[in-house]
Amino acid sequence: MPNSSKITSMQISQPDYQKYLFVCENKREAGACCAEAGGRLRESLKAKVKEKNLEKKIRVSRTGCLDACSEGPNVLLMPDNVWFKKVSAADLDEIVSRVSASFEG
Ligand code: FES
Repeated sequence: MPNSSKITSMQISQPDYQKYLFVCENKREAGACCAEAGGRLRESLKAKVKEKNLEKKIRVSRTGCLDACSEGPNVLLMPDNVWFKKVSAADLDEIVSRVSASFEG
């Protein structure tokens, strides 16, 4: 890695959250996989995370296209690198349960 003496304002730190659930809310012109459902899924997912008192550990956040459009709506769990694809509201309890269980094991 080249040694750089350039002075910037960049700061490096550890995030406060242990896990991130990224919900695609990308708006595509045709064949939108995520745009319509993504917002509702994210709000419901946030509420469920809060119900389990996990909101200090898990950040639910919107994201742009995750390049899996044909399999959406999509949710990506990081840093676990786990995809939840073709997600519906009926799947959210299972997603939260799986993420919650990952803290135990
Ligand atoms: S628009 Fe959601 S993954 Fe591409």
